[in-house]
Amino acid sequence: MQNTEIYINELLSQLTLEEKIGMIHGAGLFRTEAVERLGIPPLTMSDGPMGVRAEFADNEWRSVGTTDDFVSYLPCNSAIASTWNRELAGKAGEVLGEEARARSKDVILAPGINIKRSPLCGRNFEYMSEDPRLVEEMVVPMVKGIQKGDTAACVKHFAANSQETERLWVDTIVDEQTLEEIYFPGFQAAVEKGGIFSLMGAYNLLNGEHCCTSKSLLNKKLREEWKFDGMVVSDWGGVHDTVKAAESGLDIEMDVTYEFDKHNLAKPLLEKIKAGELSEDLVDEKVRNILRLMLRLKMIGEQKEERKRGSYNTKEHQQAVLEVARESVILLKNEKQILPLNADKVKKVAVIGGNAAAIHSNGGGSAEIKALYEISPLMGIKKILGGNAKVSYAPGYVLPEKKQGDGTNWQAESTQHDWSGERKEKTLSAEEIRKAEEKKAACLKEALELAKESDTVIFVGGLNHVYDVEGQDRADMKLPYGQDEVLAALLKEVPDTVVVMFAGSPVEMPWLSEAATVVWSYYAGMEGGTALAEVLFGKVNPSGKLAETFIKTAGQCPAHTIGTFGKKDKAEYKEGRMVGYRYYDTEETEVHFCFGHGLSYSHFVYKDLQLQKEGEEVEISLTVKNDSTVDGKETVQIYVAEKDAKEGEPSHQLKAFEKIFVKAGEEKLVTFVLTKRDFSHYDVEKHAFVVCGGTYEIQAGTSSRDIFLRENIRY
Ligand code: BGC
Repeated sequence: MQNTEIYINELLSQLTLEEKIGMIHGAGLFRTEAVERLGIPPLTMSDGPMGVRAEFADNEWRSVGTTDDFVSYLPCNSAIASTWNRELAGKAGEVLGEEARARSKDVILAPGINIKRSPLCGRNFEYMSEDPRLVEEMVVPMVKGIQKGDTAACVKHFAANSQETERLWVDTIVDEQTLEEIYFPGFQAAVEKGGIFSLMGAYNLLNGEHCCTSKSLLNKKLREEWKFDGMVVSDWGGVHDTVKAAESGLDIEMDVTYEFDKHNLAKPLLEKIKAGELSEDLVDEKVRNILRLMLRLKMIGEQKEERKRGSYNTKEHQQAVLEVARESVILLKNEKQILPLNADKVKKVAVIGGNAAAIHSNGGGSAEIKALYEISPLMGIKKILGGNAKVSYAPGYVLPEKKQGDGTNWQAESTQHDWSGERKEKTLSAEEIRKAEEKKAACLKEALELAKESDTVIFVGGLNHVYDVEGQDRADMKLPYGQDEVLAALLKEVPDTVVVMFAGSPVEMPWLSEAATVVWSYYAGMEGGTALAEVLFGKVNPSGKLAETFIKTAGQCPAHTIGTFGKKDKAEYKEGRMVGYRYYDTEETEVHFCFGHGLSYSHFVYKDLQLQKEGEEVEISLTVKNDSTVDGKETVQIYVAEKDAKEGEPSHQLKAFEKIFVKAGEEKLVTFVLTKRDFSHYDVEKHAFVVCGGTYEIQAGTSSRDIFLRENIRY
């Protein structure tokens, strides 16, 4: 370590001020300036969480259009979190890190871990969960996986970036306890337990300060308290002031504009230092962090020759993303045991709904990628059934024609006020409306006729990246393109229709009571269609669990009813820590599906809950029996309920979970250890986590509302 710092200082002493300035701001859209005479390469970065993004021109938002930047398309972070499988999060990370490295990137701008405060946030699909503990547990292996490949993970967006509306200017007002208990833990874990090499600031302001240049966030919280000595990069265009940027814990300013010299940390900073208004020491500190990152990545220094070269589009990567996708599929409802379908028995299958045939990898914002391939649900179903069944497809509803781009990327304008992207509605003439209605009716008729003459009907609808998208929040949770009407008609005609929702965030389900079977898939990567079909036909026993509560309408969400969301000037987090199930379970809100929910083709029985206090730790054990004839995986969830809690506390909180595989008819012992932190609250007077003390109920269950075993303990 000593040697490292000596080496860094030696290198630093040889750099001119101009060279140092070149290293701390974007000199291309995704890179900094090299210092060739000293062997310092540029630092290259790329999005994003679902795979390594296509190659862009250095100084223009134009994809270069070559054929060597197709990559593995990974399940989105919501899907990864739904596996509740740490090992798979690690595997996904490894794929991402290796592919980024093979594409000559140093930093992969992932994972995104902002807390899902409202179901309407446009980027929720890029994030993991509404629950900080689940985020902590999944982000750590993911970061480690990425960094195994000598690529830096870059956790984003720090902090409290849970809305897209006016994302660069909205002031997010959050109290200290809420930040510490809900919005910070994922980032803290990435730093302290994941050993992450870099972090991205958020666009929004937090309590009046722009996050990318916030002293309280970057200097105090991140660097002083969490001892982060890695690199902090701004979100693209998130820096607004040279002095603040210089004095804050930020190291590299990136922007969406091409006038690189005009960036705050470019010429404007150089001039201020030359004029004696700012000290060069501020720049040195940033350069030290960047050089330290380069050393860790073996970009410079003695270990340079040992840097891994990475790989992309390998069979192993495709297999890994398939494994993640399989465990991410969530069986929400299977009332009449219609699933699994029997591939040997079905002869005539109607696949209805636009998402059956849709491709999603090329959308969503900065998470867009050029996937080497993407198996749609329709192809997945056809792959499983082969030639012995007739599979026919009808969209059932009309999808708007894709707008022809002018060749430039959305990102060039995405940081402007009131940016509205692709969702702009065209005003139609009376004649156009009549024609559209006719088309709609014909489309539905075709689907219903097909359904009637088939022995099996599978509807695959949901959202796409016109709705799950960066830069815009949704207006409501309604399904677009008249899907609710199609589903109502279809379920009336064929009540056993298997309903599949393929989306990045929850939707209203007015037809839910009519549907016996509902399956949920987030955007699950290049093998998403394969995984879905394997679940439908029982080749894979579903084991995904919701990492967020599926409420009935957005109007139930406390971010909207107690706090404010989607406003342009302020996002007031008045609901505090009452995010997601913390609120819904406490208030006993009627929801569609609770946090942690997800069915299996197996049936599990929980028994023998034992608690043992050993010093500051509580050891928990219980036995899970697979009381069925199918092998399966179960995620055992441990919640802690504070019996002596003050008014306003969440009724219970997830503190531990374990995903286990139990063979049919067998039993497995599962153990957990809870620590002091699990019985603590953040105390704003002491600025620390403290134990309140009293009686706590330890709950073990299969979801936040299906608790099978409870036992009290004094702590
Ligand atoms: C997004 C970031 C992304 C960056 C670079 C911004 O618009 O908010 O998540 O990494 O662009 O593309």
